[in-house]
Amino acid sequence: MNEHHTTKAAITGIHAWVPDHILTNAELSTMVDTSDEWITTRTGINERRILKGEDQGTSVIGIAAVRGLLEKTGTDPKTVDLLICATTTPDMQFPATGNIIANAVGAANAFSFDLQAGCSGFIFGLSTGAQFIETGRCRKVVVVGADKMSSIVDYEDRTTCIIFGDGGGAVLLEPARDGMGILDTILKSDGSGETFLHMKAGGSRRPATFETVSAREHYVYQEGSAVYKFAVKNMADVAVTIMARNHLKPDDIAFLVPHQANKRIIDATAEKMGISPDRIMLNIHKYGNTTSGTIPLCLFDYKDRLRRGDHLVLAAFGAGFTWGAVYLRWAY
Ligand code: UT7
Repeated sequence: MNEHHTTKAAITGIHAWVPDHILTNAELSTMVDTSDEWITTRTGINERRILKGEDQGTSVIGIAAVRGLLEKTGTDPKTVDLLICATTTPDMQFPATGNIIANAVGAANAFSFDLQAGCSGFIFGLSTGAQFIETGRCRKVVVVGADKMSSIVDYEDRTTCIIFGDGGGAVLLEPARDGMGILDTILKSDGSGETFLHMKAGGSRRPATFETVSAREHYVYQEGSAVYKFAVKNMADVAVTIMARNHLKPDDIAFLVPHQANKRIIDATAEKMGISPDRIMLNIHKYGNTTSGTIPLCLFDYKDRLRRGDHLVLAAFGAGFTWGAVYLRWAY
């Protein structure tokens, strides 16, 4: 243990889960006027996972991810102090899906809540959880990012249904005093982004009625090209800023871990950072945009290529608008 380091929150375990059912571009082409070629070249997505079945909500994904995480890290669920669930598709408007997950996994001593920050939810959750570790208030924090986007996607709208999928993951945060862990975060939001990306009905402003249902207002509404422009600019800005203020050169960074919304947004961000394509975590082709799930799903897919001490930059952009970046050193 090195006395020169203050307490940071380190990721000491990662697990993720996606449902089995695969929705391919070919199948989507039979549902709306689109093609495999259009989807692949414009987004980089080939297929996405869909959670099927009655009464299957986001907690199904979160429970599977957290159970696996606790098992593989040998963590007694009763020792978890806090569970944060980042999601935009909670099981119900209340209670929090985090409460449902914590109860199901036996995290009986944890307090839990949901965090809604659109596609930036996971990094907002990571940063929030890290504060509780840094202050000493908590010793074990679970951060889950999970979404069942298929529950709010209009499969008659070709501009959105091709993008989204279901899935998620979870990390365990524990104190580290060896220079590893979450070293810097930048979180941003701009509520004027509401215009371009929202769900019109089902909240307190416009509760569900027969009219809202027949007008298809309980689905994601997105002005794609406007969101695209904000995403490219803002995700790159925070990623470049976090590099500069931590004196990181492109070669210092083992991986960029970007939110997976569109491969073209990811490539533009990496280019502005000077990161070469082989150091971008990418699985958008398999899962599409799982909102709060993308970053833990990436970390899980690439975990065997990570080494203790690796410098990672996480970056995301989403509804709100919200965006941000996290700089961390991999701890195991
Ligand atoms: O994760 C949360 C934040 N969200 C994002 O970051 C998403 C950001 N936006 C995007 O990724 C892209 O804007 C989309 C993938 C949603 C759309 O790609 P785009 O290159 O911006 O296309 P566009 O909206 O400018 O549309 C270009 C054309 C239009 O036709 P016209 O008007 O030029 O005739 C669309 O109607 O492509 C058409 N189009 C499609 N064609 C075939 C839109 N969706 C489709 C489709 N298949 N699925």
